[in-house]
Amino acid sequence: MSEPLVLGIETSCDETAIGIVRGRTLLANVIASSVEEHARFGGVVPEIASRAHLEAILPSIESAVKEAKISLNDIDAVAVTAGPGLIGALLVGVASANGLALGLGKPLYGVNHLAAHVSVDFLTHLQPIEPTIALLVSGGHSSLLQVDDITSSITKLGATMDDAAGEAFDKISRIMGLGFPGGPAIDRIAQSGDAKAIDFPRGLTQAADWQTRPYDFSFSGLKSAVARYLEVTPDYAKADVAASFQESIVDVLMLKAIAACTATGINSLVIAGGVAANSRLRAVAQERCAKAGISLRIPSPGLCTDNGAMVAALGSLMVTAGRAPTEGAFDASSSLQVEQVSL
Ligand code: KG4
Ligand code: ZN
Repeated sequence: MSEPLVLGIETSCDETAIGIVRGRTLLANVIASSVEEHARFGGVVPEIASRAHLEAILPSIESAVKEAKISLNDIDAVAVTAGPGLIGALLVGVASANGLALGLGKPLYGVNHLAAHVSVDFLTHLQPIEPTIALLVSGGHSSLLQVDDITSSITKLGATMDDAAGEAFDKISRIMGLGFPGGPAIDRIAQSGDAKAIDFPRGLTQAADWQTRPYDFSFSGLKSAVARYLEVTPDYAKADVAASFQESIVDVLMLKAIAACTATGINSLVIAGGVAANSRLRAVAQERCAKAGISLRIPSPGLCTDNGAMVAALGSLMVTAGRAPTEGAFDASSSLQVEQVSL
């Protein structure tokens, strides 16, 4: 099937999201977020997220079908995030997808949320680029991947040893009283700050680290350094702290991503996940990749954070590649490894 019509369901965290694609064309992208219900807790509360998914899932499917101007019976396959994520949240999506696929008599693909983040790029950039290095930076994960085939072969080159990049943004934002989610808040305020104002540490970039952990990340030292700076500098300039903190993260992410491209000889890079929406990361990536002769692809900011289009996109690529659907009833897997693209 060359242009399959696929409905994708994403409920791994706080977004109930439905996407519909035909081949590589995005027809609908509906997102119901419970982020405001979590904001006063400074992070996502799993029970609140699960209940919000239950309330939002059916209306979201209905409005996506309307937006795409299709009928549910036209769909060739259903795809759903099977993991990783919050187990109660994932279960709502998986159970709904199972019911929908069974009711329609269509194949069901249980897919990996992380692979879906990377594959959404295939909706924006039509030219396939495999193999590619992928820098995946979200609220729950930060990893460098070698993608030989997005539907079946992903190798983890390195990952964070502590906080994910997005998590670091969220925590520093909370300490600075900038709200949740922290990434967009810091991104915004950093635009009026001086990125060179404070020289915050770059985690795992010492000579010995390049020998032993070239593609791993660590942001806990940076987090402590910022917290300490705020403590001893009562009249700190918020914009300068935000810009300097952001610069440290962006610098390390790009140093390691480009090193991975150079070492593997793969001169193409995809940046995906919520943090890929960061304006400074996008600018620095463009600059450094151009200098290093690496072709760079970053999905549009709206497709970087969690959405259903990315799940539908991966489902569509699976169908086109002739991959087998997930057979029988299956469970959500909260700690699904990135190498496992589908169940
Ligand atoms: O991929 P995503 O939507 O959800 C997960 O799978 O985790 O990523 C959410 C993360 C949050 O930590 C959020 O603060 C971060 O992405 N984020 C950003 C920006 N927009 C979202 N981080 C930095 N700059 C942004 N503009
Ligand atoms: Zn995500």
